[in-house]
Amino acid sequence: MGMKERIAEIHATMTEELGMAASTEKIEEIRVKMLGKKGELTALLRGMGQLAPEDRPKAGQMINEAREKLTAILEAKAAEIKAKEREEALKRETIDVTQPAELPRVGSQHPINLVMDQLVECFTGMGFEVLEGPEIELDHYNFELMNIPKNHPARDAQDTFYVDDNIVLRTHTSPMQARAMLTRKPPIRVICPGRVYRADEVDATHSPVFHQMEGLVVDKDVNMADLRGTLNAFAEKLYGKGITTRFRPSFFPFTEPSTEVDLTCSNCHGKGCRVCKGTGWIEVLGAGMVNPKVLEMCGIDSSVYSGFAFGIGLERIAMLRYGISDMRLLYEGDVRFLGQFRK
Ligand code: PHE
Repeated sequence: MGMKERIAEIHATMTEELGMAASTEKIEEIRVKMLGKKGELTALLRGMGQLAPEDRPKAGQMINEAREKLTAILEAKAAEIKAKEREEALKRETIDVTQPAELPRVGSQHPINLVMDQLVECFTGMGFEVLEGPEIELDHYNFELMNIPKNHPARDAQDTFYVDDNIVLRTHTSPMQARAMLTRKPPIRVICPGRVYRADEVDATHSPVFHQMEGLVVDKDVNMADLRGTLNAFAEKLYGKGITTRFRPSFFPFTEPSTEVDLTCSNCHGKGCRVCKGTGWIEVLGAGMVNPKVLEMCGIDSSVYSGFAFGIGLERIAMLRYGISDMRLLYEGDVRFLGQFRK
């Protein structure tokens, strides 16, 4: 086969293969095979030694022309494929800038925290100071200073989680009364929100961990009417006009006299409904005048000063406020439930 035919053959093979090529990699493969150092055209150049010397310049020229031509064809095809690949990539990676963005998920406050914040705002507005203290508490503060002696039923192991003989998980926020009185001089006006613990079985209205907010006022001439006025103001601020309090006699070792305090049912405004079981009232807190014995144990002269105290159950307020029927929902951490609550 003459040189011309060999070149024609290479030309034909290459155009055929290029015609079928569909990727940049394939084009490169063809380039190496035909035009590369070990390619077919280069092999022709190498074989020139076998030609008669007078034929060599002509053959060399033909091969070089062919190389130029074939390189041009190959590059044209390469450019064509590159453009196509680019177009496809653009299509594939298109971003619709008009599409609405996915909104970041905004968290929400836990209903207990919402209620706590509302109460704190309400009482700080009346001049109360916020005081927090330990959940792991000395027996001394939790019981002794609260006038709950060693054999009192409230100390029954059934109700109290003991850490050891002298340390408990506080069963109420009342030990904060003692801590406040021992670190401050009257006039004292504090509220103490926090977690408390009791060895209760879990059900729709009980949990071994729950929340209270203690309130304490100690000053000269503080009386039951001040307690009533303060709690009435609180009820109205929290639930609106027309919501008031009802005091029922009760007993706590650390207050004398003691009272259970009901608020007008905010659901029916006192008419009677399912929420208040037809009574028009909802029990939300315990309160009373600080027992003079407690004042004395906490270093306050009970012949000069008197005080009132109250303890509000936050779960109860949250459940009433948001219409939550089962306390367990508050502790399961299900974001579908928790995400519903806003101020
Ligand atoms: N500590 C009481 C309780 O846990 C509530 C209370 C607080 C009562 C302050 C009177 C005064 O039930």
